[in-house]
Amino acid sequence: MRILGIETSCDDTGVAVYDSATGLRAHVLYSQLGHGAFGGVVPELASRDHIQKLAPLVRDVLSRASLDPHGLDGIAYTAGPGLAGALLVGASFARAFAFALGIPALGIHHLEGHLLAPYLEADAPAFPFLALVVSGGHTLLADVAGVGRYRILGESRDDAAGEAFDKTAKALGLGYPGGPAVARKAAEGRDCGIMLPRPLTDRPGLEFSFSGLKTAVLRLIGEEPLTPARQADIAHAFQEAVVDTLVTKCERALRITGHRQLVVAGGVGANQRLRERLNGALAALGARAYYPRAEFCTDNGAMIAYAGSLRLAAGAPDSGQLGVHARWPLAELSPP
Ligand code: KG4
Ligand code: ZN
Repeated sequence: MRILGIETSCDDTGVAVYDSATGLRAHVLYSQLGHGAFGGVVPELASRDHIQKLAPLVRDVLSRASLDPHGLDGIAYTAGPGLAGALLVGASFARAFAFALGIPALGIHHLEGHLLAPYLEADAPAFPFLALVVSGGHTLLADVAGVGRYRILGESRDDAAGEAFDKTAKALGLGYPGGPAVARKAAEGRDCGIMLPRPLTDRPGLEFSFSGLKTAVLRLIGEEPLTPARQADIAHAFQEAVVDTLVTKCERALRITGHRQLVVAGGVGANQRLRERLNGALAALGARAYYPRAEFCTDNGAMIAYAGSLRLAAGAPDSGQLGVHARWPLAELSPP
């Protein structure tokens, strides 16, 4: 089964072709950089950019996959959660194209795409597993029993981990997107006694909260002139605080659930320091972590094509509905 996957939930236009017999055939991505000047994604600009880029990217990916559109068996697109206008661009395109080709179209949950992304790699876990989703919009731990069988164990009450990276980057003058910029700066920083909170690690439970950490960073920045060395030390302290918090919660969730496999998905999953620290902590527990390659941690079309191929192969019907969901709890999904 050959599935075209389309991702337009935020500021990345991702398109891919996944073949259930041979694996990923091709994938392309256009990352909108124009939002940097505004310090964050501007929804209306994101929608317009998706409109301009989507058709040429689809043509490009089909040519890279050496596939005629009539060789497709279905089209999967991100139906939520995300920016409503941006989602509608992908959904309308996918539905119109599928209608013209006489094949089914299927709306996919963005976070399901993220947490199944490790299956795009040769070394993938078997179900069940624990999943940590850490993106720009979400931070959550889920018990994953199978496709569409997700039990949320804890999530962020306020900012997502990626959002905290982005806001810290903005406050430090490091630009957008903030995660990779903060990670690069942090590598130049030292352990110099800057203490930042590890939110909610001192009480039981698997909930997250990152807005207090962001406020603590803003206070630190106001205390002294922001020299390049100070900037690096704050980035370092911030990254350690986020990583410590995520590692503590993952250890706790592994103990509670008894799982020995952890899938780490979403943009912050590309963070090398997080991977290093998780690998160490999990080895001590006799557990191991699975990560998609960095380009499949951040938003991409391959994860949507893959999730679509699983659901369509299992007989998921085309709803015929164009509706997208800006908000859409992961726990509302059911198996195909
Ligand atoms: O999954 P994603 O591409 O989009 C959402 O679904 O939100 O995640 C984007 C987030 C951004 O907040 C970005 O700053 C963060 O992931 N990110 C990182 C790294 N690469 C991307 N955060 C920390 N370290 C990184 N290397
Ligand atoms: Zn995402």
